[in-house]
Amino acid sequence: MKTILVTGGLGYIGSHTVVELINSGYEPIIVDNLSNTSIDVLNRIEQISHKKCVFYQIDVCDKVALSSVFEKHIIDSIIHFAAFKAVGESVEQPLKYYQNNIGGLITLLEVMQEKGIKNIVFSSSCTVYGEPDSSPVNELSPIKKASSPYGNTKQIGEEILTDCGFLNCVALRYFNPIGAHSTALIGELPLGVPNNLMPYITQTAIGIREQLTVFGNDYNTPDGTCIRDYIHVVDLANAHVKALKFIETHPDNLFDVFNIGTGEGYTVLDIVNMFEKENNITLKYKIGPKRAGDVEKVWADNSKAKTQLQWQANHTLVDMVKSAWKWQLALQESK
Ligand code: UD1
Repeated sequence: MKTILVTGGLGYIGSHTVVELINSGYEPIIVDNLSNTSIDVLNRIEQISHKKCVFYQIDVCDKVALSSVFEKHIIDSIIHFAAFKAVGESVEQPLKYYQNNIGGLITLLEVMQEKGIKNIVFSSSCTVYGEPDSSPVNELSPIKKASSPYGNTKQIGEEILTDCGFLNCVALRYFNPIGAHSTALIGELPLGVPNNLMPYITQTAIGIREQLTVFGNDYNTPDGTCIRDYIHVVDLANAHVKALKFIETHPDNLFDVFNIGTGEGYTVLDIVNMFEKENNITLKYKIGPKRAGDVEKVWADNSKAKTQLQWQANHTLVDMVKSAWKWQLALQESK
């Protein structure tokens, strides 16, 4: 059984990935500093998978603590999620983002080099494409200047990984993950006011937020609101399992990158309408000003992931909006 170190393994994407790793016969070792999640997620992963998980409360920037994990376990590969991801906060506090996202990556890579471990899957983002000249974007589409320090940490992260010739690395460029596990035991747990669309929608629907503000309706799109490629978090989690298998079968790969999206673009109002219809809810929303730094439209050409990783998205937008709402209801009940 292969052992996979999962940094940020109790976060939103990390927790779903840990479940899929266990389902696929891997042994995950979870490292998380709990800065943006709760220890309760560990129990919930164990409930879903009927398996005890190894967990260390460690910050990836703490080299001594991180090294000690490699002394206790024979690690085959690493999936590196641990990073901050709030675009607005990164503009306010850029050094916090460079310190954590770049500092954490470098610390991890130093430990990997010292321990002779080369396999790594890196969480990248479609943000590297900025405002693309056209969509769908493929992996050869130009990298645009990042519109935030957060986005820049993903670009710089990819560059660092490209330069580290001792690695066998796959970077996954995520589009917009939403939804939750079908058990409603794990999902997105935003602390404070959500920045992202789906948790804002579900929190508005349940009455935590008064109303959703749709950021702009005069974009050059069919209904004037921005277009994104929303992907079910479980499909995204499975892409990591496929990436590990790719690394195992391409031992001299060095560095490769894959778009992980459904290949379909939906507007903000498409999502709102689908959420209302499928969950039989009327959502309070208003049209507000554009959000600074927002991309007008971007969706993925995912053919490289389909052909080379043998990955595909199996969940529909209906699954996404329904599971997101089921998760919000379950959260409410557990309070
Ligand atoms: C952003 C980042 C992305 C990052 C992700 C992680 C950019 C361009 N995108 O994605 O790289 O990985 O955050 O957090 O930097 N919206 C509303 N009202 C709201 C919230 C969102 O209308 O209250 C709209 C936005 O304008 C956007 C869409 O919903 O059109 C999706 O927004 P969001 O969920 O924040 O994701 P991105 O901005 O696409």
